[in-house]
Amino acid sequence: MPTTQAREVTAARRLDNVRYAIRDLACVADEVIQQGHKVLPLNVGDPLNFDFHTPPHIIEAAYKAMRDGKNGYAPSPGIPEALDAIRGEAARKGISTVRDVFVTSGVSETVDLCISALVNPGEDILTPKPDYPLYSAVLCKLGIAVNAYDLNEDDAWQPELADIERKLTPRTRAIVLINPNNPTGSLCSREMLEQIADLARRHSLVVFSDEIYDKLILDYDSQGNATPHIAFAAVGPDVPCITFGGMSKNYLVPGWRIGWGIVSGDAAAIKPYSEGIHRLLRARLCANHPEQYAIKPALEGPQDHLIDVRRKLRSRRDLTQKWCESTPRVSCVAPRGAFYAYPKIDISESDEVFVKELIREKHVMVVHGSGFGQKPGTQHFRIVFLPDEKTLANAYSAIAEFIQQRYRTA
Ligand SMILES: Cc1ncc(COP(=O)(O)O)c(C=O)c1O
Repeated sequence: MPTTQAREVTAARRLDNVRYAIRDLACVADEVIQQGHKVLPLNVGDPLNFDFHTPPHIIEAAYKAMRDGKNGYAPSPGIPEALDAIRGEAARKGISTVRDVFVTSGVSETVDLCISALVNPGEDILTPKPDYPLYSAVLCKLGIAVNAYDLNEDDAWQPELADIERKLTPRTRAIVLINPNNPTGSLCSREMLEQIADLARRHSLVVFSDEIYDKLILDYDSQGNATPHIAFAAVGPDVPCITFGGMSKNYLVPGWRIGWGIVSGDAAAIKPYSEGIHRLLRARLCANHPEQYAIKPALEGPQDHLIDVRRKLRSRRDLTQKWCESTPRVSCVAPRGAFYAYPKIDISESDEVFVKELIREKHVMVVHGSGFGQKPGTQHFRIVFLPDEKTLANAYSAIAEFIQQRYRTA
């Protein structure tokens, strides 16, 4: 046996700021579980943890592909029939200047790949604050400083244009839009998308438009139909843009890891960047192969499950909003898409302490606003309103009781 003690293996220093608050809270939950309690997870956006089910024809397509021997590597950009279906989807979204499409292992990989292929050391990209934490994690991994612009809570969480103008530098290469938004559930207005397109033109920015929740719009128009989603690339067809989409949320298969990118904009301008993306696509071989055979049936087959999904989400959103409006110290901009609410909470300690104590005391798990970024001096928490109404109602009375007891609300 060697007698020397193995030296501690340290992780790269550039990971020091990589946080993933959504999963980091798991340690506190584990404590509570070890004491024999059941924790209600309102922290992870996985519909399959609740009463949502993958459409059977999609499962059949992936299963058939496996049975048919589609178990080797796929072409690096994706299988041709999936790429065709994604082009069709882009057309339905009103994107008329598609230059390229590619398949990835989830939108998570699209984000990583598109940022890695664009940004040099010393350059930056603008990300929203609050944001989905993967964006800042990827930037940290690449050693790129985070340059965050504010979403304005007083304007239904629209991007704050004045702040974007302030944060722009000559080295800014891109701006990220998350629409519908995680964590706020907000939608970008057409006027806002037009203004962002104008800004991108003036400053030669690429737009990364994360539209992973584009079929989960919860608002109605005057006829009672779901408000259509407005794709950024349809509003700014000339602007170099990558639209991120995927199967995880709209088609209820987050574990399959299937996403894609739709490259649009001025053909000559985007070409070298698009080639760079393909170099990385080849380097990582391919996205999950058999699951790609489910992309066409998903995008072109029956969409009935979405009617049910949106009906459940609307009812749960309404319940959530009512609770926010009737609970002392809590207020919330009503979510219009996805399955997240991001209430503001008026308390005299950090929202991280609030969230951790809530897990310990009431066994309900939400995520603190500081995990997503927020304006200094404000506190928030993110609720995932995927559970059924009865479970949500129980969780909300527990949170209200916790607030009442801890902050002595009248
Ligand atoms: C805004 C946003 N983008 C990307 C992702 C990652 O999605 P995927 O499962 O396709 O990797 C998520 C997952 O929650 C998300 O909320």
